[in-house]
Amino acid sequence: MKKLLCGLLAGTLLPFGAAQADETVGSNQNPNVLIAYYSWSGNTKEIAEDIHKAVGGTLFEIQTVQSYPEEYRATTEQAKKEINDHFKPELKTKVENMAQYDTVFIGSPNWWGTIAPAVSSFLAEYDLNGKTVIPFITHGGGGEQNTVKDLTAQCTGCNVSSHPWVSYKTMTLGRMNGWLKEIGFIKE
Ligand SMILES: Cc1cc2nc3c(=O)[nH]c(=O)nc-3n(C[C@H](O)[C@H](O)[C@H](O)COP(=O)(O)O)c2cc1C
Repeated sequence: MKKLLCGLLAGTLLPFGAAQADETVGSNQNPNVLIAYYSWSGNTKEIAEDIHKAVGGTLFEIQTVQSYPEEYRATTEQAKKEINDHFKPELKTKVENMAQYDTVFIGSPNWWGTIAPAVSSFLAEYDLNGKTVIPFITHGGGGEQNTVKDLTAQCTGCNVSSHPWVSYKTMTLGRMNGWLKEIGFIKE
């Protein structure tokens, strides 16, 4: 009875990551895959989590040492200046062993038509040479604009997928599985 209760608790009450740790569908699936993302207001994070649920691998949030303002307009103004100055903010979070990954999903919001400066920092900090890089982008109506192009230009020696994910905020309309099939992560 005690065993049964423990089993039920593990399946229902533990946080997602902890419950998944022993499951093949969780982080043990595709250990060669890293899902790295930057997200200011949560949309790109949500897509990253959806990819992680479907693909497994390691989910990694790119965070800056200095956080952006809480207020939207102030953040857009700071971001505009940083992008114009090609400023690369210092990153707080670190990938422990980049060498173990051969495929890296990289997520960014569209900021002023390009990738967020934190993602530029990530691309400058790590050697992704020879890795398959799959961009995923969320936007507020402007679409892809120069995001994927700029990410590709800043990713030296990467094999950037020609099938990036681009969505208006998190509005996926069930496209996620179709996309993961197209790029070979879901078989049927
Ligand atoms: C600083 C800043 C600049 C933005 N610039 C654009 C833009 O040029 N084009 C666009 O479509 N959306 C733009 N947006 C909207 C975001 O791309 C959109 O809301 C995105 O889904 C946010 O992702 P996040 O929640 O992961 O931060 C901007 C948002 C911010 C905060």
